[in-house]
Amino acid sequence: MSALTDSPAWQALAAHRSRMEGVLMRDLFARDPDRFSRFSARLDGPGGGMTLDYSKNRITEETMGLLLDLARQQDVAGWRDRMFAGERINATEDRAVLHTALRNRSDRPVPVDGRDVMPEVNAVLARMGRFAQAVRDGAWTGHDGSQMTDVVNIGIGGSDLGPYMACEALKPYAHPDLRMHFVSNVDGTHMAETLKKCRPATTLFIIASKTFTTQETLANAHTARSWFLDTVKDESAVARHFVAVSTNAAEVSKFGIDPENMFVFWDWVGGRYSLWSAIGLPIAISIGMDNFEALLAGAHDMDEHFRNAPPESNLPLLLGLIGVWNANFLGADSYAVLPYDQYLHRFPAYLQQLDMESNGKSVDRQGNRVDYATGPILFGEPGTNGQHAFYQLIHQGTRLVPADFLAPVETQNPVGRHHPILLSNFLAQPEALMRGKTAEEVRAELQGAGVIGDALEALVPHKVFEGNRPTNSILFRRLDPHTLGMLIALYEHKVFVQGIVWNINSFDQWGVELGKQLAKAILPELSEASPPTGHDSSTAALIEACRE
Ligand code: F6P
Repeated sequence: MSALTDSPAWQALAAHRSRMEGVLMRDLFARDPDRFSRFSARLDGPGGGMTLDYSKNRITEETMGLLLDLARQQDVAGWRDRMFAGERINATEDRAVLHTALRNRSDRPVPVDGRDVMPEVNAVLARMGRFAQAVRDGAWTGHDGSQMTDVVNIGIGGSDLGPYMACEALKPYAHPDLRMHFVSNVDGTHMAETLKKCRPATTLFIIASKTFTTQETLANAHTARSWFLDTVKDESAVARHFVAVSTNAAEVSKFGIDPENMFVFWDWVGGRYSLWSAIGLPIAISIGMDNFEALLAGAHDMDEHFRNAPPESNLPLLLGLIGVWNANFLGADSYAVLPYDQYLHRFPAYLQQLDMESNGKSVDRQGNRVDYATGPILFGEPGTNGQHAFYQLIHQGTRLVPADFLAPVETQNPVGRHHPILLSNFLAQPEALMRGKTAEEVRAELQGAGVIGDALEALVPHKVFEGNRPTNSILFRRLDPHTLGMLIALYEHKVFVQGIVWNINSFDQWGVELGKQLAKAILPELSEASPPTGHDSSTAALIEACRE
Protein backbone atom coordinates (compact mmCIF):
# COMPACT_ATOMS: atom_id res chain seq x y z
CA MET A 1 0.00 0.00 0.00
CA SER A 2 1.21 3.53 -0.74
CA ALA A 3 1.63 6.03 2.06
CA LEU A 4 -1.42 7.86 0.68
CA THR A 5 -3.86 4.94 0.52
CA ASP A 6 -2.59 3.72 3.90
CA SER A 7 -2.99 7.15 5.50
CA PRO A 8 -5.63 7.91 8.15
CA ALA A 9 -7.47 10.51 6.04
CA TRP A 10 -7.66 8.19 3.02
CA GLN A 11 -8.77 5.24 5.11
CA ALA A 12 -11.43 7.37 6.79
CA LEU A 13 -12.78 8.36 3.38
CA ALA A 14 -12.74 4.73 2.19
CA ALA A 15 -14.78 3.70 5.23
CA HIS A 16 -17.14 6.62 4.73
CA ARG A 17 -17.58 5.64 1.09
CA SER A 18 -18.98 2.27 2.21
CA ARG A 19 -21.42 4.05 4.48
CA MET A 20 -22.50 6.23 1.55
CA GLU A 21 -23.41 3.17 -0.53
CA GLY A 22 -27.05 3.47 -1.56
CA VAL A 23 -27.39 7.10 -0.42
CA LEU A 24 -29.39 9.01 -3.03
CA MET A 25 -28.89 12.69 -3.66
CA ARG A 26 -32.60 13.12 -4.28
CA ASP A 27 -33.24 11.96 -0.68
CA LEU A 28 -30.51 14.25 0.66
CA PHE A 29 -32.18 17.18 -1.09
CA ALA A 30 -35.63 16.15 0.16
CA ARG A 31 -34.37 15.97 3.75
CA ASP A 32 -32.42 19.23 3.73
CA PRO A 33 -33.95 22.38 2.24
CA ASP A 34 -30.66 24.21 2.95
CA ARG A 35 -28.54 21.82 0.95
CA PHE A 36 -27.70 24.43 -1.70
CA SER A 37 -26.44 26.98 0.82
CA ARG A 38 -24.56 24.29 2.69
CA PHE A 39 -22.74 23.09 -0.43
CA SER A 40 -22.10 26.17 -2.54
CA ALA A 41 -19.48 28.90 -2.45
CA ARG A 42 -19.08 32.28 -4.12
CA LEU A 43 -16.34 34.59 -5.17
CA ASP A 44 -17.41 38.16 -5.93
CA GLY A 45 -15.71 40.20 -8.60
CA PRO A 46 -16.20 43.31 -10.74
CA GLY A 47 -17.70 41.20 -13.53
CA GLY A 48 -20.27 39.76 -11.12
CA GLY A 49 -18.08 37.00 -9.70
CA MET A 50 -19.05 33.36 -9.76
CA THR A 51 -20.94 30.75 -7.78
CA LEU A 52 -19.83 27.15 -7.45
CA ASP A 53 -22.74 24.88 -6.61
CA TYR A 54 -21.40 21.46 -5.63
CA SER A 55 -24.55 20.33 -3.83
CA LYS A 56 -25.41 17.84 -6.59
CA ASN A 57 -22.62 15.50 -5.55
CA ARG A 58 -22.88 12.34 -3.46
CA ILE A 59 -21.65 14.14 -0.40
CA THR A 60 -22.71 15.00 3.12
CA GLU A 61 -21.12 17.34 5.64
CA GLU A 62 -19.15 14.34 6.88
CA THR A 63 -17.79 13.73 3.36
CA MET A 64 -16.64 17.33 3.07
CA GLY A 65 -15.08 17.24 6.53
CA LEU A 66 -13.13 14.11 5.63
CA LEU A 67 -12.01 15.58 2.30
CA LEU A 68 -10.79 18.72 4.05
CA ASP A 69 -8.92 16.44 6.50
CA LEU A 70 -7.26 14.81 3.47
CA ALA A 71 -6.24 18.24 2.14
CA ARG A 72 -4.74 19.08 5.54
CA GLN A 73 -2.97 15.75 5.77
CA GLN A 74 -1.44 16.23 2.30
CA ASP A 75 -0.47 19.80 3.23
CA VAL A 76 -2.19 21.43 0.26
CA ALA A 77 -1.90 24.83 1.97
CA GLY A 78 1.83 24.38 2.58
CA TRP A 79 2.52 23.38 -1.04
CA ARG A 80 0.32 26.25 -2.27
CA ASP A 81 2.41 28.70 -0.25
CA ARG A 82 5.62 27.15 -1.54
CA MET A 83 4.38 27.56 -5.11
CA PHE A 84 3.44 31.22 -4.62
CA ALA A 85 6.77 31.83 -2.86
CA GLY A 86 8.77 30.68 -5.90
CA GLU A 87 10.19 27.44 -4.45
CA ARG A 88 11.32 24.88 -7.02
CA ILE A 89 8.33 22.60 -6.56
CA ASN A 90 8.72 21.19 -10.08
CA ALA A 91 11.48 18.88 -8.86
CA THR A 92 12.05 16.76 -11.98
CA GLU A 93 12.76 19.89 -14.02
CA ASP A 94 14.25 21.74 -11.04
CA ARG A 95 12.01 24.75 -11.66
CA ALA A 96 9.82 27.14 -9.76
CA VAL A 97 6.15 27.28 -10.78
CA LEU A 98 5.21 30.91 -10.99
CA HIS A 99 2.50 31.58 -13.52
CA THR A 100 0.85 33.42 -10.63
CA ALA A 101 3.64 36.03 -10.77
CA LEU A 102 2.61 36.88 -14.34
CA ARG A 103 -0.74 38.14 -13.07
CA ASN A 104 0.44 39.48 -9.73
CA ARG A 105 -1.46 42.76 -9.49
CA SER A 106 -0.31 43.45 -5.93
CA ASP A 107 2.91 45.23 -5.04
CA ARG A 108 4.29 42.04 -3.50
CA PRO A 109 7.72 41.06 -4.80
CA VAL A 110 8.05 37.49 -6.10
CA PRO A 111 11.55 36.11 -5.57
CA VAL A 112 13.16 33.39 -7.67
CA ASP A 113 16.55 32.44 -6.25
CA GLY A 114 16.43 35.59 -4.15
CA ARG A 115 15.73 37.96 -7.09
CA ASP A 116 12.37 39.69 -7.52
CA VAL A 117 10.96 38.76 -10.95
CA MET A 118 8.22 41.40 -10.94
CA PRO A 119 10.23 44.21 -12.61
CA GLU A 120 10.97 41.89 -15.57
CA VAL A 121 7.38 40.64 -15.71
CA ASN A 122 6.06 44.19 -15.76
CA ALA A 123 8.61 45.31 -18.34
CA VAL A 124 7.53 42.56 -20.76
CA LEU A 125 3.87 43.39 -20.14
CA ALA A 126 4.57 47.03 -20.94
CA ARG A 127 6.34 46.05 -24.17
CA MET A 128 3.48 43.75 -25.12
CA GLY A 129 1.06 46.59 -24.47
CA ARG A 130 2.95 49.00 -26.72
CA PHE A 131 3.27 46.46 -29.51
CA ALA A 132 -0.36 45.34 -29.28
CA GLN A 133 -1.53 48.95 -29.39
CA ALA A 134 0.66 49.71 -32.43
CA VAL A 135 -0.77 46.73 -34.33
CA ARG A 136 -4.32 47.64 -33.32
CA ASP A 137 -4.14 51.31 -34.27
CA GLY A 138 -2.16 50.73 -37.44
CA ALA A 139 1.06 52.39 -36.25
CA TRP A 140 2.84 49.06 -36.81
CA THR A 141 2.92 48.66 -40.56
CA GLY A 142 4.17 46.00 -42.91
CA HIS A 143 7.15 46.30 -45.27
CA ASP A 144 5.16 48.43 -47.73
CA GLY A 145 3.44 50.64 -45.17
CA SER A 146 0.19 48.64 -45.04
CA GLN A 147 -1.66 48.12 -41.78
CA MET A 148 -2.04 44.59 -40.48
CA THR A 149 -5.35 42.87 -41.14
CA ASP A 150 -4.41 39.30 -40.15
CA VAL A 151 -2.45 37.93 -37.21
CA VAL A 152 -1.32 34.30 -37.42
CA ASN A 153 -0.15 32.67 -34.19
CA ILE A 154 2.07 29.67 -34.91
CA GLY A 155 2.47 27.47 -31.84
CA ILE A 156 1.24 24.20 -30.38
CA GLY A 157 0.11 22.88 -26.98
CA GLY A 158 0.40 25.63 -24.40
CA SER A 159 1.65 28.01 -27.05
CA ASP A 160 -1.64 27.65 -28.91
CA LEU A 161 -4.49 26.32 -26.76
CA GLY A 162 -4.57 29.14 -24.19
CA PRO A 163 -4.39 32.12 -26.56
CA TYR A 164 -6.74 30.45 -29.04
CA MET A 165 -9.30 29.59 -26.36
CA ALA A 166 -9.14 33.10 -24.85
CA CYS A 167 -9.41 34.88 -28.23
CA GLU A 168 -12.49 32.81 -29.02
CA ALA A 169 -13.97 33.33 -25.55
CA LEU A 170 -13.50 37.09 -25.72
CA LYS A 171 -14.62 37.71 -29.29
CA PRO A 172 -17.12 40.39 -28.22
CA TYR A 173 -14.08 42.45 -27.15
CA ALA A 174 -12.05 41.83 -30.30
CA HIS A 175 -10.73 44.51 -32.66
CA PRO A 176 -13.23 44.60 -35.52
CA ASP A 177 -10.63 44.84 -38.29
CA LEU A 178 -8.09 42.28 -37.15
CA ARG A 179 -8.57 38.63 -38.02
CA MET A 180 -6.88 36.21 -35.63
CA HIS A 181 -5.68 32.82 -36.86
CA PHE A 182 -4.06 29.96 -34.97
CA VAL A 183 -1.96 27.36 -36.75
CA SER A 184 -0.78 24.47 -34.61
CA ASN A 185 -0.92 21.21 -36.52
CA VAL A 186 2.08 20.07 -38.52
CA ASP A 187 -0.43 18.76 -41.05
CA GLY A 188 0.26 21.19 -43.91
CA THR A 189 -3.47 21.56 -44.40
CA HIS A 190 -3.71 23.73 -41.31
CA MET A 191 -1.17 26.24 -42.64
CA ALA A 192 -2.35 26.01 -46.26
CA GLU A 193 -5.98 26.72 -45.39
CA THR A 194 -4.98 29.63 -43.15
CA LEU A 195 -2.67 31.24 -45.69
CA LYS A 196 -5.45 31.16 -48.29
CA LYS A 197 -7.17 33.83 -46.18
CA CYS A 198 -4.11 36.08 -45.79
CA ARG A 199 -2.01 38.52 -47.87
CA PRO A 200 1.74 38.76 -47.14
CA ALA A 201 1.75 42.57 -46.97
CA THR A 202 -0.91 42.72 -44.26
CA THR A 203 -0.12 39.59 -42.20
CA LEU A 204 1.76 39.46 -38.92
CA PHE A 205 3.11 36.08 -37.79
CA ILE A 206 3.73 35.39 -34.12
CA ILE A 207 6.00 32.36 -33.67
CA ALA A 208 5.19 31.16 -30.17
CA SER A 209 7.29 28.44 -28.61
CA LYS A 210 8.70 28.24 -25.11
CA THR A 211 11.62 26.08 -26.24
CA PHE A 212 11.75 27.19 -29.89
CA THR A 213 12.71 23.62 -30.76
CA THR A 214 9.22 22.15 -31.23
CA GLN A 215 9.17 20.32 -34.56
CA GLU A 216 5.63 21.30 -35.56
CA THR A 217 6.05 24.98 -34.77
CA LEU A 218 9.38 25.28 -36.56
CA ALA A 219 8.05 23.48 -39.62
CA ASN A 220 5.05 25.81 -39.73
CA ALA A 221 7.21 28.88 -39.12
CA HIS A 222 9.56 27.98 -42.00
CA THR A 223 6.60 27.41 -44.30
CA ALA A 224 5.11 30.77 -43.35
CA ARG A 225 8.41 32.52 -44.02
CA SER A 226 8.79 30.84 -47.43
CA TRP A 227 5.22 31.83 -48.33
CA PHE A 228 5.97 35.40 -47.32
CA LEU A 229 9.29 35.59 -49.20
CA ASP A 230 7.86 33.92 -52.30
CA THR A 231 5.82 37.10 -52.80
CA VAL A 232 7.82 39.80 -51.09
CA LYS A 233 11.29 38.56 -52.16
CA ASP A 234 13.06 40.75 -49.61
CA GLU A 235 14.65 39.23 -46.47
CA SER A 236 14.76 42.63 -44.78
CA ALA A 237 10.94 42.75 -44.89
CA VAL A 238 10.70 39.73 -42.55
CA ALA A 239 11.29 41.92 -39.49
CA ARG A 240 7.98 43.77 -40.04
CA HIS A 241 6.00 40.54 -40.32
CA PHE A 242 7.53 38.00 -37.93
CA VAL A 243 7.83 38.28 -34.17
CA ALA A 244 8.68 35.54 -31.68
CA VAL A 245 7.60 34.67 -28.16
CA SER A 246 10.03 32.35 -26.40
CA THR A 247 12.38 31.66 -23.52
CA ASN A 248 15.13 30.70 -25.99
CA ALA A 249 16.76 33.78 -27.53
CA ALA A 250 19.56 31.77 -29.19
CA GLU A 251 17.14 29.57 -31.18
CA VAL A 252 14.99 32.58 -32.08
CA SER A 253 17.91 34.39 -33.68
CA LYS A 254 19.06 31.15 -35.36
CA PHE A 255 15.66 31.06 -37.02
CA GLY A 256 16.29 34.58 -38.30
CA ILE A 257 14.04 36.68 -36.10
CA ASP A 258 15.61 39.87 -34.82
CA PRO A 259 15.88 39.78 -30.97
CA GLU A 260 14.27 43.25 -31.14
CA ASN A 261 11.15 41.43 -32.30
CA MET A 262 11.22 38.87 -29.51
CA PHE A 263 9.04 38.83 -26.40
CA VAL A 264 10.53 36.79 -23.59
CA PHE A 265 9.20 34.69 -20.78
CA TRP A 266 10.90 32.40 -18.29
CA ASP A 267 11.52 28.74 -17.49
CA TRP A 268 9.33 29.04 -14.37
CA VAL A 269 6.29 29.42 -16.64
CA GLY A 270 4.95 26.01 -17.69
CA GLY A 271 3.73 25.81 -21.30
CA ARG A 272 0.14 25.01 -20.29
CA TYR A 273 0.21 27.86 -17.76
CA SER A 274 1.68 30.43 -20.14
CA LEU A 275 -1.26 32.37 -21.57
CA TRP A 276 -0.63 35.05 -18.91
CA SER A 277 2.88 35.65 -20.27
CA ALA A 278 3.94 37.03 -23.66
CA ILE A 279 2.33 33.86 -25.07
CA GLY A 280 -0.84 35.92 -24.51
CA LEU A 281 0.32 38.46 -27.13
CA PRO A 282 -2.40 37.44 -29.64
CA ILE A 283 -4.98 37.99 -26.89
CA ALA A 284 -3.61 41.45 -26.16
CA ILE A 285 -3.61 42.30 -29.87
CA SER A 286 -7.14 41.04 -30.32
CA ILE A 287 -8.87 42.52 -27.25
CA GLY A 288 -6.45 45.33 -26.33
CA MET A 289 -4.09 45.60 -23.39
CA ASP A 290 -6.69 46.99 -20.97
CA ASN A 291 -8.82 43.93 -21.48
CA PHE A 292 -5.77 41.64 -21.27
CA GLU A 293 -4.96 43.26 -17.94
CA ALA A 294 -8.54 42.66 -16.79
CA LEU A 295 -7.98 38.97 -17.64
CA LEU A 296 -4.83 39.01 -15.48
CA ALA A 297 -6.72 40.80 -12.70
CA GLY A 298 -9.45 38.14 -12.72
CA ALA A 299 -6.85 35.41 -12.36
CA HIS A 300 -5.11 37.37 -9.61
CA ASP A 301 -8.39 37.67 -7.72
CA MET A 302 -8.76 33.89 -7.89
CA ASP A 303 -5.12 33.52 -6.72
CA GLU A 304 -5.83 35.73 -3.71
CA HIS A 305 -8.99 33.79 -2.97
CA PHE A 306 -7.10 30.48 -3.21
CA ARG A 307 -4.42 31.78 -0.85
CA ASN A 308 -6.66 33.43 1.70
CA ALA A 309 -10.21 32.06 1.71
CA PRO A 310 -11.03 29.53 4.44
CA PRO A 311 -10.97 25.92 3.22
CA GLU A 312 -14.76 25.56 3.60
CA SER A 313 -15.41 28.31 1.05
CA ASN A 314 -12.31 28.01 -1.12
CA LEU A 315 -13.52 27.37 -4.66
CA PRO A 316 -10.43 25.69 -6.19
CA LEU A 317 -9.90 23.59 -3.08
CA LEU A 318 -13.53 22.43 -3.04
CA LEU A 319 -13.59 21.70 -6.78
CA GLY A 320 -10.35 19.73 -6.48
CA LEU A 321 -11.52 17.72 -3.49
CA ILE A 322 -14.88 16.88 -5.07
CA GLY A 323 -12.92 15.57 -8.07
CA VAL A 324 -10.79 13.40 -5.75
CA TRP A 325 -13.93 12.01 -4.10
CA ASN A 326 -15.49 11.17 -7.47
CA ALA A 327 -12.30 9.69 -8.95
CA ASN A 328 -10.81 7.82 -6.03
CA PHE A 329 -13.78 6.84 -3.93
CA LEU A 330 -16.68 6.63 -6.39
CA GLY A 331 -14.54 5.19 -9.20
CA ALA A 332 -15.15 7.78 -11.92
CA ASP A 333 -12.35 7.73 -14.48
CA SER A 334 -13.58 10.51 -16.71
CA TYR A 335 -14.72 14.06 -16.24
CA ALA A 336 -16.85 16.20 -18.55
CA VAL A 337 -16.64 19.98 -18.76
CA LEU A 338 -19.74 21.41 -20.41
CA PRO A 339 -19.82 25.16 -21.01
CA TYR A 340 -23.24 26.56 -21.90
CA ASP A 341 -21.61 29.43 -23.75
CA GLN A 342 -20.62 29.09 -27.39
CA TYR A 343 -17.72 31.51 -26.83
CA LEU A 344 -16.17 28.84 -24.57
CA HIS A 345 -16.13 26.24 -27.33
CA ARG A 346 -12.35 25.75 -26.99
CA PHE A 347 -12.43 25.64 -23.18
CA PRO A 348 -12.66 21.83 -22.89
CA ALA A 349 -9.74 21.43 -25.35
CA TYR A 350 -7.72 23.92 -23.32
CA LEU A 351 -8.56 22.08 -20.09
CA GLN A 352 -7.56 18.77 -21.63
CA GLN A 353 -3.96 19.94 -21.76
CA LEU A 354 -4.13 21.72 -18.42
CA ASP A 355 -5.56 18.72 -16.58
CA MET A 356 -4.31 15.68 -18.48
CA GLU A 357 -0.75 16.88 -19.15
CA SER A 358 -0.48 18.01 -15.54
CA ASN A 359 -2.02 15.08 -13.70
CA GLY A 360 -1.71 12.21 -16.17
CA LYS A 361 1.03 10.63 -14.05
CA SER A 362 1.50 7.18 -12.55
CA VAL A 363 4.49 7.67 -10.29
CA ASP A 364 4.50 9.85 -7.21
CA ARG A 365 7.00 12.58 -6.34
CA GLN A 366 9.34 9.95 -4.88
CA GLY A 367 9.22 7.88 -8.09
CA ASN A 368 7.01 5.08 -6.73
CA ARG A 369 4.17 3.62 -8.81
CA VAL A 370 0.91 4.90 -7.38
CA ASP A 371 -1.84 2.51 -6.29
CA TYR A 372 -4.68 4.98 -6.80
CA ALA A 373 -6.20 6.75 -9.78
CA THR A 374 -4.72 10.13 -10.72
CA GLY A 375 -5.93 12.63 -13.34
CA PRO A 376 -9.23 11.81 -15.06
CA ILE A 377 -9.92 11.64 -18.79
CA LEU A 378 -11.34 15.06 -19.54
CA PHE A 379 -13.67 15.79 -22.41
CA GLY A 380 -16.41 18.22 -23.26
CA GLU A 381 -18.36 20.24 -25.76
CA PRO A 382 -20.48 23.33 -25.45
CA GLY A 383 -24.06 22.83 -24.35
CA THR A 384 -26.49 22.23 -25.83
CA ASN A 385 -24.58 20.43 -28.62
CA GLY A 386 -23.28 17.71 -26.31
CA GLN A 387 -26.83 16.90 -25.19
CA HIS A 388 -27.54 15.56 -28.66
CA ALA A 389 -24.33 13.55 -28.83
CA PHE A 390 -22.82 11.98 -25.71
CA TYR A 391 -25.12 12.91 -22.80
CA GLN A 392 -26.99 9.63 -23.36
CA LEU A 393 -24.03 7.83 -21.81
CA ILE A 394 -23.80 10.28 -18.93
CA HIS A 395 -27.50 9.77 -18.14
CA GLN A 396 -27.91 6.03 -18.72
CA GLY A 397 -24.50 4.48 -19.40
CA THR A 398 -22.73 2.06 -17.07
CA ARG A 399 -19.95 4.49 -16.21
CA LEU A 400 -20.01 7.34 -13.75
CA VAL A 401 -19.12 10.58 -15.54
CA PRO A 402 -18.99 13.56 -13.18
CA ALA A 403 -19.55 16.80 -15.05
CA ASP A 404 -19.07 20.54 -14.57
CA PHE A 405 -21.79 22.72 -16.09
CA LEU A 406 -20.78 26.34 -16.76
CA ALA A 407 -22.99 29.22 -17.83
CA PRO A 408 -23.28 33.02 -17.92
CA VAL A 409 -26.48 34.53 -16.54
CA GLU A 410 -26.27 37.26 -19.19
CA THR A 411 -25.61 36.64 -22.84
CA GLN A 412 -23.44 38.86 -25.03
CA ASN A 413 -25.93 38.28 -27.86
CA PRO A 414 -29.52 38.71 -26.72
CA VAL A 415 -31.25 37.11 -29.69
CA GLY A 416 -34.95 36.34 -29.21
CA ARG A 417 -35.48 33.71 -26.51
CA HIS A 418 -32.21 31.89 -27.17
CA HIS A 419 -30.62 32.65 -23.84
CA PRO A 420 -33.54 31.53 -21.63
CA ILE A 421 -33.70 28.36 -23.72
CA LEU A 422 -29.96 27.81 -23.24
CA LEU A 423 -30.18 28.47 -19.50
CA SER A 424 -33.18 26.19 -19.08
CA ASN A 425 -31.06 23.37 -20.51
CA PHE A 426 -28.08 24.31 -18.33
CA LEU A 427 -30.36 24.05 -15.29
CA ALA A 428 -32.30 20.98 -16.37
CA GLN A 429 -29.40 18.65 -17.13
CA PRO A 430 -27.81 18.62 -13.64
CA GLU A 431 -31.27 18.31 -12.12
CA ALA A 432 -32.07 15.33 -14.32
CA LEU A 433 -28.69 13.73 -13.63
CA MET A 434 -29.20 14.13 -9.90
CA ARG A 435 -32.86 13.18 -9.68
CA GLY A 436 -33.20 10.52 -12.35
CA LYS A 437 -36.54 8.90 -13.01
CA THR A 438 -37.81 5.84 -11.13
CA ALA A 439 -39.70 2.87 -12.63
CA GLU A 440 -42.84 4.09 -10.86
CA GLU A 441 -42.50 7.53 -12.40
CA VAL A 442 -41.93 5.98 -15.83
CA ARG A 443 -45.01 3.75 -15.42
CA ALA A 444 -47.19 6.69 -14.45
CA GLU A 445 -45.92 8.70 -17.40
CA LEU A 446 -46.52 5.86 -19.87
CA GLN A 447 -49.98 5.17 -18.49
CA GLY A 448 -50.76 8.87 -18.85
CA ALA A 449 -49.75 8.57 -22.51
CA GLY A 450 -52.10 5.59 -22.99
CA VAL A 451 -49.46 2.82 -23.04
CA ILE A 452 -50.59 -0.25 -21.12
CA GLY A 453 -49.89 -3.93 -20.43
CA ASP A 454 -46.87 -5.76 -21.90
CA ALA A 455 -45.96 -2.85 -24.13
CA LEU A 456 -45.69 -0.65 -21.04
CA GLU A 457 -43.63 -3.16 -19.05
CA ALA A 458 -41.29 -3.75 -22.00
CA LEU A 459 -40.51 -0.04 -22.18
CA VAL A 460 -40.07 0.69 -18.48
CA PRO A 461 -36.41 -0.45 -18.03
CA HIS A 462 -35.32 1.56 -21.08
CA LYS A 463 -36.88 4.74 -19.77
CA VAL A 464 -35.61 4.54 -16.19
CA PHE A 465 -32.86 7.00 -15.19
CA GLU A 466 -30.92 5.85 -12.14
CA GLY A 467 -29.91 9.44 -11.39
CA ASN A 468 -27.50 10.10 -8.53
CA ARG A 469 -24.94 11.29 -11.10
CA PRO A 470 -22.63 13.98 -9.73
CA THR A 471 -22.33 17.47 -11.21
CA ASN A 472 -21.00 20.89 -10.30
CA SER A 473 -22.62 24.05 -11.62
CA ILE A 474 -20.54 27.17 -12.13
CA LEU A 475 -22.59 30.26 -12.76
CA PHE A 476 -21.18 33.71 -13.58
CA ARG A 477 -22.77 36.94 -14.70
CA ARG A 478 -21.21 37.31 -18.13
CA LEU A 479 -18.10 36.09 -19.88
CA ASP A 480 -15.96 39.22 -19.70
CA PRO A 481 -12.15 39.27 -19.49
CA HIS A 482 -12.10 39.46 -15.70
CA THR A 483 -14.47 36.53 -15.31
CA LEU A 484 -12.57 34.43 -17.85
CA GLY A 485 -9.37 35.09 -15.86
CA MET A 486 -11.09 33.88 -12.70
CA LEU A 487 -12.43 30.81 -14.43
CA ILE A 488 -9.10 29.70 -15.91
CA ALA A 489 -7.28 30.24 -12.60
CA LEU A 490 -10.02 28.29 -10.82
CA TYR A 491 -9.24 25.25 -12.95
CA GLU A 492 -5.46 25.76 -12.72
CA HIS A 493 -5.66 25.65 -8.94
CA LYS A 494 -8.12 22.75 -8.98
CA VAL A 495 -5.52 20.76 -10.93
CA PHE A 496 -2.87 21.88 -8.43
CA VAL A 497 -4.93 20.74 -5.43
CA GLN A 498 -5.45 17.31 -6.96
CA GLY A 499 -1.76 16.94 -7.85
CA ILE A 500 -0.80 17.68 -4.26
CA VAL A 501 -3.38 15.27 -2.84
CA TRP A 502 -2.10 12.56 -5.21
CA ASN A 503 1.54 13.38 -4.35
CA ILE A 504 2.49 13.75 -8.02
CA ASN A 505 4.40 16.45 -9.89
CA SER A 506 1.75 18.32 -11.90
CA PHE A 507 4.35 20.47 -13.65
CA ASP A 508 6.43 18.14 -15.80
CA GLN A 509 5.34 16.25 -18.94
CA TRP A 510 7.88 13.51 -19.66
CA GLY A 511 5.11 11.42 -21.16
CA VAL A 512 5.16 13.43 -24.37
CA GLU A 513 8.81 12.64 -25.13
CA LEU A 514 8.85 9.01 -26.31
CA GLY A 515 6.54 9.60 -29.27
CA LYS A 516 8.61 12.63 -30.29
CA GLN A 517 11.83 10.54 -30.20
CA LEU A 518 10.37 7.75 -32.30
CA ALA A 519 8.89 10.18 -34.85
CA LYS A 520 12.34 11.71 -35.29
CA ALA A 521 13.78 8.28 -36.05
CA ILE A 522 10.98 7.36 -38.47
CA LEU A 523 11.01 10.61 -40.47
CA PRO A 524 14.19 9.81 -42.49
CA GLU A 525 13.05 6.20 -42.92
CA LEU A 526 10.00 7.37 -44.86
CA SER A 527 12.21 8.45 -47.75
CA GLU A 528 14.69 5.54 -47.63
CA ALA A 529 14.51 2.55 -49.97
CA SER A 530 15.93 -0.15 -47.68
CA PRO A 531 13.49 -2.10 -45.47
CA PRO A 532 12.86 -0.33 -42.16
CA THR A 533 14.77 -1.91 -39.28
CA GLY A 534 14.45 -1.85 -35.52
CA HIS A 535 10.64 -1.73 -35.56
CA ASP A 536 7.93 -4.21 -34.67
CA SER A 537 6.29 -5.85 -37.69
CA SER A 538 3.23 -3.62 -37.46
CA THR A 539 5.17 -0.34 -37.52
CA ALA A 540 7.54 -1.66 -40.23
CA ALA A 541 4.62 -2.68 -42.47
CA LEU A 542 2.93 0.68 -41.98
CA ILE A 543 6.17 2.50 -42.86
CA GLU A 544 6.36 0.44 -46.08
CA ALA A 545 2.73 1.27 -46.84
CA CYS A 546 3.37 5.01 -46.39
CA ARG A 547 6.38 4.78 -48.75
CA GLU A 548 4.21 3.24 -51.44
O1 F6P B 1 4.77 18.32 -26.22
C1 F6P B 1 4.20 18.95 -25.11
C2 F6P B 1 4.71 20.34 -24.95
O2 F6P B 1 5.98 20.34 -24.43
C3 F6P B 1 3.75 21.15 -24.09
O3 F6P B 1 3.98 21.00 -22.75
C4 F6P B 1 3.97 22.53 -24.61
O4 F6P B 1 2.93 23.38 -24.24
C5 F6P B 1 4.04 22.26 -26.09
O5 F6P B 1 4.73 21.04 -26.19
C6 F6P B 1 4.70 23.31 -26.93
O6 F6P B 1 6.01 23.58 -26.51
P1 F6P B 1 6.78 24.86 -26.96
O7 F6P B 1 6.04 26.05 -26.46
O8 F6P B 1 8.15 24.75 -26.36
O9 F6P B 1 6.84 24.87 -28.46
